[in-house]
This record gives sequence, C-alpha cells and structure tokens, in this order.
Amino acid sequence: MTCDSARAQRPRVFVTRDLPGSALDRLGEATRMDLWPGETAPDREALLERVRDAEGLLCLLTDAVDEDLLRGAPSLRVVSSYSVGVDHIDLAAASARGIPVGHTPGVLVETTADLAFGLLLSAARRLAEGDRFVRDGGWGREPSWSPHLLLGTDVHGATLGLLGLGAIGQAMARRAAGFGMRVLGWTRSGRAVPGVEPAAFETLLRESDFVSLHVALTEDTRGLIGARELAWMRPGAILVNTARGGVVDEPALAAALRGGTIGGAALDVFSEEPLPDASPLHGAPRLTLAPHLGSASQATRARMAELAVDNLLAGLAGNPLPHCANPESDPGPEPEPEG
Ligand code: DGY
Repeated sequence: MTCDSARAQRPRVFVTRDLPGSALDRLGEATRMDLWPGETAPDREALLERVRDAEGLLCLLTDAVDEDLLRGAPSLRVVSSYSVGVDHIDLAAASARGIPVGHTPGVLVETTADLAFGLLLSAARRLAEGDRFVRDGGWGREPSWSPHLLLGTDVHGATLGLLGLGAIGQAMARRAAGFGMRVLGWTRSGRAVPGVEPAAFETLLRESDFVSLHVALTEDTRGLIGARELAWMRPGAILVNTARGGVVDEPALAAALRGGTIGGAALDVFSEEPLPDASPLHGAPRLTLAPHLGSASQATRARMAELAVDNLLAGLAGNPLPHCANPESDPGPEPEPEG
C-alpha cells in the first residue's frame, strides 16, 4: 500500500482550533486532520461546511453542536469537546444518532478552583480596583497611605457557600479550609462532603459572606441566581461565578450591584462571550471580570488536549470514550438471539 492510499484510509476529522501542547500531532498522524487555521472560532457557515464530510469533530465550547449540524454531517461518528462543560452540545440529538460525545472532566478541577478562589480573594480585597487606581494615576492624588482607601472584606474566618459540590466545588472547600472558613454546601443530590456543612439553598444564600457557583448549566440551573436570590444574600456578600454565565440573571446582578443589594461579584463566565458592549454589567460597581480563564494554565490546557484527542480516537476506533458525556448514545451489545 502506498503512503497516499494508507493516508486516504484514515478517518477524516475537523478540529475547530489549534490547541496547546502536542496532542494534535498525535491526532494528525492517526487521521486526515483538517485544522481550522484561525485564532478565532469558525463562523457557523464555515463550521457546517468543514464538518460535512467529517467522521470526527474536535470542538470547543464556542462551537454550537446542534441538531442542524449533526443532520448536515452524516458521516460523523464521534464528537469530542475540549471542555468539561457540554452545554454547547445537544446531547439528546447526538445520542439519538448514536454519536458519543467526549469531554474533559478531572484534569481542570484544581486549576479552575485556583482561579475561583483567586477571584474570591481579588473581589474581597478589591485588587482589580486597586490596580486600576494605581495605573490611572488616582494614587498620586491621594495621601501615600489612607485609612479609608479601598477597604475590603476579610476572607479568613468568613463563611463560604458552595452551590454545587462536584469536583470543583469540593476543591474550593479544600482551599477554604486553609483560610479557616466555615463552608456551607448545597447540592441537588444531597451528597455529604467532608468539611462542608450541608445547607438548604435559601439558608446558604442568607448565611454566606461569599457564594461560589459550581453547577453545570442545564434547563434546571439557567437563571438559578436571579433578583430574588440576590436579595436573600447578605448586603456585603460577594458572588463568584466560574461555572457558566447562564446560571446568573445578569441584568438582575447588575441591578443588585448598582443598588448595593450585595457587596460585589467576580465573574469568569457570561451568558454571551465575549461580553457584549451593551451588557448591563459594564460599569457596575464592585465587579471583577475575567475572560473565561478557569482552566487557563499551560499544563491543564495541554492535558485537556490529550483527553480530547484520546476521546476522539477511541470513538473513531469504535471503542468506549474514556470520558463520555452521553453514555446513553451506546445502546450496548445486540441481545443474543434466543433459542
Ligand atoms: C470547561 O471546560 O467547560 C471550562 O469552562 C473551560 O475553562
């Protein structure tokens, strides 16, 4: 067999963005890889066009994989997302077609918890405001040290409320223990986690100095934190969101910050990304913003790429994915004929 004919037999895959690390070299050797050359996401038209003949798709959370896309890609056998969250993928539609969807749980837990805790500290001690104040020359107009300048909130000894006690929520609880915090936790499953006091949803919001969100975005959690829930929070409390923007009603949050209903917020995720110029969050006081950096360390992003490639290659080979978000896509072995 010539090199060309061996290559022609490899499965065709579309990868929607270059990834950190060397995992894509491995994918390139095993497949006919079409790697999107842009630094930004392919637009919808380009995505549909490039996936049309693909047997495998390696996508990002910026690529909507819906019924239309799946219908237009009849050869598609596996979708692998370079993310743990899969709210950008219609899992039911993929399952109905028997297409397994891979994702990257586990490897980004500690890195995302580092960022969430960093945002909590930053919002509590007003670090982003302090940075802007120094850069914008505000400090030069003040005495060199002022008893009233940028007073924040203590983190040590405060109460942290965790909405969601999956792996990242639990990693937050471990960090909070080092700061001598009381940790309250709410989860639908009611699971018990060492070092976390189980609390009812409303009680957690009423008693916490910091509330950190760690739930997946589903139809049940969309808008979980709205005007009523923000009103339950303590006047000085700080909301941290590294989960998904859609979990928070952003206009309600902007109003709560402007009206002083809560003490502040730190957000890494938004219902629309990048944050649109028209968002009511722009200009809201005591708000720390980050551009969806939860998993953004060199090592973690490279590990995510390895997992995403492992998932894709397993699916192309007809094997179970190491991390499958829709196990129901595999109906299992055909029943043995009777008699
Ligand atoms: C994910 O993987 O879902 C994260 O949001 C990326 O940081």
